[in-house]
Amino acid sequence: MKDIPLFTTENGAANLILGSVQGFGTAYVRVLSARDGKALAAECAQFCRAAGAEGVYATGLPEPEGGLLSTEIWRMTAQKVRLPQTQAMLEPVTAETLEKWAALYNRKFRAVPNAVWLSPSLRQAVLKAREAFFVTLSGQTVGIAKGAESEIHAVAALAPGGGRAAVLALARKLEGPEIALEVASVNQKALALYQSLGFRKTETLAKWYKIG
Ligand SMILES: CC(C)(COP(=O)(O)OP(=O)(O)OC[C@H]1O[C@@H](n2cnc3c(N)ncnc32)[C@H](O)[C@@H]1OP(=O)(O)O)[C@@H](O)C(=O)NCCC(=O)NCCS
Repeated sequence: MKDIPLFTTENGAANLILGSVQGFGTAYVRVLSARDGKALAAECAQFCRAAGAEGVYATGLPEPEGGLLSTEIWRMTAQKVRLPQTQAMLEPVTAETLEKWAALYNRKFRAVPNAVWLSPSLRQAVLKAREAFFVTLSGQTVGIAKGAESEIHAVAALAPGGGRAAVLALARKLEGPEIALEVASVNQKALALYQSLGFRKTETLAKWYKIG
């Protein structure tokens, strides 16, 4: 489903992000300007629901009109040289393995706050950017990972220890000296993993509210 870059009403303007509606049932609203935040949120939520969204989340609402805080998005960083060593390896995703990787990604990220559903067109973009990997340890696939430059975009575990293997194998490939990632503050398992590896919060990037 196409995004609506500029959704305007007499109550304000917002960017409606509808790309994850089909796969995850979630829509995201970036409020650009609000005369009446509460009324604008209600209008955006109504539009997104009509487009098929079950959950609608907004950022940029003037406080305290946001409603129920869903999650904050935190930026975390670690010094590459201080990360532990790993035996895990990265196996780049190819045209032949893309669908398998995307299916695993969509299964693991379905319940992750603010995760993007990998639509067929996004899958092709990921393949072209060469930023997606299977993570293997002793010949077994234990996780999946995605990242570029010095940013970890996503990691998921497919076996015990797979999360750690994915972070460390991807970080080794990425450009240093500092490795960065974004995480939803309510994603306890991810936070515990990142903290255990030495990542520290440096910034709150956004606050997302459940609306509608
Ligand atoms: C965040 C995450 C990587 C943390 O992992 P962890 O707590 O360190 O867990 P471990 O590496 O010890 O592995 C346990 C995981 O392996 C999975 N696992 C174990 N055996 C498995 C098997 N045979 N097949 C598939 N998955 C298996 C478990 O279900 C568990 O994943 P879950 O936490 O999603 O339920 C993991 O919880 C995850 O993949 N979450 C979903 C994606 C996510 O939130 N990523 C972070 C945001 S970018």
